[in-house]
Amino acid sequence: MTQTLLVLGSANADLVVEVGRRPGGGETVLGGDTVVLPGGKGANTAVAAARVGASVALVGALGDDGYGSLLRESLESSGVDTALVKTSARPTGIAYITVTPDGENSIVVSPGANSDVAPSDVDGLAFEGARVLTCSLEVPLETVVHAIGAASQAGVRTVLNLSPVADLPAETLRQLTVLVVNEHEAAQLARDWTGLLALGPASAVVTLGSRGVAVVERSGVVEVPAVEVAEVVDTTGAGDAFAGALSARLADGDDLVRAAEYAVKVAALSVTKAGAQPSYPTAEEIG
Ligand code: RIB
Repeated sequence: MTQTLLVLGSANADLVVEVGRRPGGGETVLGGDTVVLPGGKGANTAVAAARVGASVALVGALGDDGYGSLLRESLESSGVDTALVKTSARPTGIAYITVTPDGENSIVVSPGANSDVAPSDVDGLAFEGARVLTCSLEVPLETVVHAIGAASQAGVRTVLNLSPVADLPAETLRQLTVLVVNEHEAAQLARDWTGLLALGPASAVVTLGSRGVAVVERSGVVEVPAVEVAEVVDTTGAGDAFAGALSARLADGDDLVRAAEYAVKVAALSVTKAGAQPSYPTAEEIG
């Protein structure tokens, strides 16, 4: 394996429908036509990193079905190595996504094949040549915990996008180089941003939506402002775009603040187009 960035995480077909407003319990609303797009937090992160030039492999699982082919095609055409994406007997994961006119989304995920990503899939990794392992949590927690432990032992830097939020073992938190959380998750975990480091990670990045991000290191907190965009079309996958670009720059040797400055630009551009993976910019588009 020669990739400098390894991403462990989910791959989903995103079934996206625009709605004027979300239905309440027991209510039906009519939406637009359903659009099927490649998504999933792991695949999104890998594609975002590859688009900005990283050499990246995804560790994950897809079903032997049409959605699996859609995902493989999106990953491979973006330059992601899929040799470590196994074919599962379960169907490809599906995310049911509603998007409202303000660009906000709500998502229900049916994990399917993602539930099959196992600790044994990590045992085959030699981590040879890898500089960064980036994980998110739509695959089984025990697999993520196992991967972070193995990477940390191999001297590979570890990034965890704590999404969706889960309880992590204290040892795993201590093995993290960078913990990425949004401000609501940060508030659940610690009284203030510097308190995140007391949980164990060497550093943390708190994403603040349209306000940018805060980079939290032992030396202090640096706030990186967001890049303004003319129109927010769809925020789906913006956090994954940030995590992917951040990981790409870290694997390339940037320090955390520089990597975050680059990644906020990638995330900003991603919200100006519909969908997750189809919205991710190339290095040339970032400028
Ligand atoms: O973070 C956005 C992603 O979450 C979507 O692509 C969807 O698949 C869900 O995993």
